[in-house]
Formats: sequence, structure tokens, C-alpha cells
Amino acid sequence: MFQRMSGQVAVVTGAAQGIGLAIARRLASEGCAVVFADLNLNAATAAAEEVAQSSGSPTLPLPVDVTDRPAVEALLAATLARFHQVDILINNAGIFGNARFELMTDAEWRRMIEVDLTSVFLVSQVVVRHWLSQKRPGAIVNLASISGITAFTDSSHYAAAKMGVVGLTRSLAMELGMHQIRVNAVAPGIIATEMTRRSLESPELSGGWLRRIPQRRYGTPEEVAGAVAFLASNDAAYVNGELLFIDGGGTFAWDKPSDAER
Ligand SMILES: NC(=O)c1ccc[n+]([C@@H]2O[C@H](COP(=O)([O-])OP(=O)(O)OC[C@H]3O[C@@H](n4cnc5c(N)ncnc54)[C@H](O)[C@@H]3O)[C@@H](O)[C@H]2O)c1
Repeated sequence: MFQRMSGQVAVVTGAAQGIGLAIARRLASEGCAVVFADLNLNAATAAAEEVAQSSGSPTLPLPVDVTDRPAVEALLAATLARFHQVDILINNAGIFGNARFELMTDAEWRRMIEVDLTSVFLVSQVVVRHWLSQKRPGAIVNLASISGITAFTDSSHYAAAKMGVVGLTRSLAMELGMHQIRVNAVAPGIIATEMTRRSLESPELSGGWLRRIPQRRYGTPEEVAGAVAFLASNDAAYVNGELLFIDGGGTFAWDKPSDAER
């Protein structure tokens, strides 16, 4: 089978579960060696072993807190020690939270911005410095969100962080393009993972969301992974600064569903 990423090395943050795991599995199935970087080393190790067996590609689980610069530098060093190169960075690790604006604490705001936005700056900078020093090309794909374009009630800190990710993506695409470093992002809609499980279990919340999605279903981690793999691959060699929506058509669907459709 043709493996378009054969010989390449990817670092996927937050690869222990959910969308990150689906991305890591997809890249490995396309021939990529994959670093499973996550806070949860036990889950990352189990995931990396399973993916190595099923794909035949080498994998490496590594512990990292993406908000911690020394830990991120250690992640790059361990990746280079094992695979001698890195070609692709997927900034996927993230958290979600609900807090009404008037009740939001400084700690809630700061944590969200740190994990969902500052980490993208930090991990990207560590990897980009390496690429520039080696005069190597590279591809970064960031996990933004439809809330990075629209808005989110009771999660203004999350929306602000993801809007920041979109701005960072487009600015880095401009600044680094001349070095053949591409920076793109995806904006998933509602994807069934641990992050959304409790909301999706609530019939009230879930029903309201579903009616706004033209395809009338949530997305799967694998559907996000396919789009991320495209942006990371050479099939997207001239795609730079793009924000790709994976949302069943929901973000720009302003029409209310007709009675017949409900
Ligand atoms: N699920 C959705 O509907 C959805 C929609 C849009 C965007 N996203 C984004 O996709 C990404 C993945 O979401 P998911 O639904 O798979 O979430 P998830 O909660 O299922 O998985 C997140 C992973 O990130 C890891 N992680 C969290 N903080 C970390 C840190 N500081 N350092 C290292 N690893 C850390 C966790 O251990 C976990 O393995 C996130 O950036 C999220 O904001 C998700």
C-alpha cells in the first residue's frame, strides 16, 4: 500500500486519547513514525504500543506537559535521540471548561489560555528553532475549534484561546513560509470524545446542537484525523495559513431547520 508519509516523523501532543490518538493512528497508518506526547504517560504508552502493532510504524510514548518549556525541550531531545529528525508537529493537547463570565476566576482564565494557547506558542517555538537551525522544512497543524471563529456561551476563555490559535496560525504561516515551514489549523465542530461526553449525554444540550448541524450528527475523531493528515502531508505542500472546518457544515449554517426536517 502507498504510504505518503513514509520516512517522516511526527510529534502529536495529547495523543493518549480522543482526537490526538486518532491523528497519531492515522499518521502511523500512512507510514509516519509517531511520538505520542501526553501528560498521561500510562495511556500514551498503551496507545503507542497498540498503534505500533496495528500499523507497523515505530511509535514512541513520551511524558510532557505542553505548558512547561523544559519538558517540551526534553520532548524534542528525546524525539531526536530516537528518530534523528522531526518533520511534523500536531498541536492537539487541550482542555475545555465551563464558567459563566461573571463567575470565572483568574485561575480558570489563566489555565485555559496557558494550556490551549500558550502551549501552541511554546511547543511550536521549540520545534521551529530546531528546524531553522537545521535548515529543515516542516509542517505544523494546530487544533483550533469552531469556537475560534464563532463564540461559545459559558466558555469565553476557551473561545478566546482558540481564536488566539487561529491568529497565531496565520501569523506563523506568514512569518515562516519563506523557510518552507507551513502552519495550518483545523476547526472541528462537535466531536464525540471524552471532552464532550458529558454535554453529549445531556439530551437538552445535545438536541439543540444537532439541529444546527446540517449533517445532523457529530463528528468522529477519525474524521478530524483525515483532515489533519492532509494538511500535514505533501498533498498540502502549497497550503499555508489555512483554517479547515470539520463541522458537518454547522459553523456558517445560519438557516434554522425547517419543521419537516426537525
Ligand atoms: N472534542 C471536540 O468536540 C473538539 C472540538 C474542537 C476542538 N477540539 C480540540 O481538539 C483537541 C483534542 O480534543 P479531545 O476532544 O480529543 O480532548 P480529550 O480531552 O479527549 O484529550 C485531550 C488529551 O490532551 C492531553 N492533555 C491535556 N492537557 C495537557 C497538557 N498540559 N500537556 C500534555 N497533554 C495534555 C490529555 O491528557 C488528553 O490525552 C483539543 O485541543 C480540543 O480543544 C475538540
